[in-house]
Amino acid sequence: MSSQMSPQWWRSAVIYQVYPRSFADGNGDGVGDLAGVRNRLPYLKKLGVDALWFTPWYASPLADGGYDVSDYRAIDPLFGDLEEAERLIAEAHALGIGIIVDIVPNHISDQHVWFQEALQGKGRDRFWFVDEPVNRWISEFGGQPGNVWTQVPDGQWYLHLFDPAQPDLNWTHPEVHAEFEAVLRFWFDRGVDGIRIDSAGLLVKEPDLADYAEGQPHPFRDRDEVHDIYRRWRQIAEEYGNRAFVGEVWMPDPVRFANYLRPDELHTAFNLEFLCCAWDPEKLRQVINNTLDSHAPVGAPATWVLSNHDVTRPVTRYGREDTAFSFATKTHDTPTDLDLGTRRARAAALLMLGLPGSAYIYQGEELGLWEVEDIPADLRQDPMRLRSTGTDPGRDGCRVPLPWSGDQPPFGFSPTDVAKPWLPQPAAWKAYTVEAQTGDPHSMLELYLSALQLRRDFQDADFAWAPSEPDVLAFRRGEHLIVVNLSPNAVELPEHTEVLLTSRFLAGDRLPPDAAVWLRSGS
Ligand code: GLC
Repeated sequence: MSSQMSPQWWRSAVIYQVYPRSFADGNGDGVGDLAGVRNRLPYLKKLGVDALWFTPWYASPLADGGYDVSDYRAIDPLFGDLEEAERLIAEAHALGIGIIVDIVPNHISDQHVWFQEALQGKGRDRFWFVDEPVNRWISEFGGQPGNVWTQVPDGQWYLHLFDPAQPDLNWTHPEVHAEFEAVLRFWFDRGVDGIRIDSAGLLVKEPDLADYAEGQPHPFRDRDEVHDIYRRWRQIAEEYGNRAFVGEVWMPDPVRFANYLRPDELHTAFNLEFLCCAWDPEKLRQVINNTLDSHAPVGAPATWVLSNHDVTRPVTRYGREDTAFSFATKTHDTPTDLDLGTRRARAAALLMLGLPGSAYIYQGEELGLWEVEDIPADLRQDPMRLRSTGTDPGRDGCRVPLPWSGDQPPFGFSPTDVAKPWLPQPAAWKAYTVEAQTGDPHSMLELYLSALQLRRDFQDADFAWAPSEPDVLAFRRGEHLIVVNLSPNAVELPEHTEVLLTSRFLAGDRLPPDAAVWLRSGS
């Protein structure tokens, strides 16, 4: 089946991330599902996004929110079934919306048949089983050195970079390659337009699982051999045509990052450096320059991301003293000015959507939702919190079910008010429902709606910095001019013929602090 998207759609697409568990509940059990998404497709169409990325919807014990897959060819019964996924893909396509699924190749669920067989002593070489722990690697979820090993009843140990419920696969095994190539084909055959690759830089391990050593390549991060896998995957995507990969590559070195985007590898990768960047003009300018400079030589489009299901929501982040994001320094319950955070998140949205390349919107970002920090401990589910023994609050706070309508929970998330959402929603979200925000010119939702519509006029235009004061970011996209004021004072607008969109009211011809504007410059 050929992709119905426009050629190379992924170069400038706006992609909306659906976290199925928390988007919309169709069957009334308090958990989001595919029926809920199907009901809300008209909303996504109206919002104006080009494609949807679904975080894993496969069969899974949900030990890590679905990133612990027990069957890559089945939909978890909590969400629906394969037939419903096929219907959803067809319905989205009929609206001109593409679909991206999420493939998790670094690890599988301990309930996957391969690991169950391994426990019985069959096919252990598909994993990393050893007689005793051979290194002191630290889990990607944090914690103590050596916590990547778990012992099975017969005494052997297996490697897991994440939760013990997520055993790492051994990518030197030909069956592992064959299986994932078949899984790619399975979903491409079902018409998906793109595939996100989870933890894309971690698949290949140091052959002896040796410990970190000064001057040596990292034992499991970004090893050169990983690129062979993506070259092969790219060939498969090319066979289908107009399908795109997006890699989850956390990589501070822009050149190493761009290696994943060489013309015979991945089409795109998440710009997590932009996501992590503080609300600081110099730092943002530098990230934008690094991004554009590193992508240009490999001919890949940049991506721009402000949030996802793993990080503190921007409205909260930008309302704190430390506006940068990092897992290591992530804070909780520190003083937060949500009004300030919201002003900045609005400006950041116009910055992100003004930049050249594709952009990602994480569900609820368009509603200006904040991180929910008062979820009772016994309701929290994220393994990141458990592994850090509670010092890291985990990622549940950005995964709370969306508010759609009405005055009280579940705010239209579920079809009846009887259902309790799987994570509690703040009462204050009654002012943040889709219903409450629709038609309100001051709302975040209306800002995103306008921006997505206007963006189409310049999404293919060239980028060039425009002159500005040091604390102001200003750039041209064809005849459009985008200005973001990160200084503490209002600044004079540059010459223009029309004000197209602002994140805050202008004070005469001046742009207030923490605000952005899209102008037509007429030249
Ligand atoms: C990625 C996902 C995250 C998950 C991890 C392990 O970072 O975004 O949610 O926990 O991979 O699969």
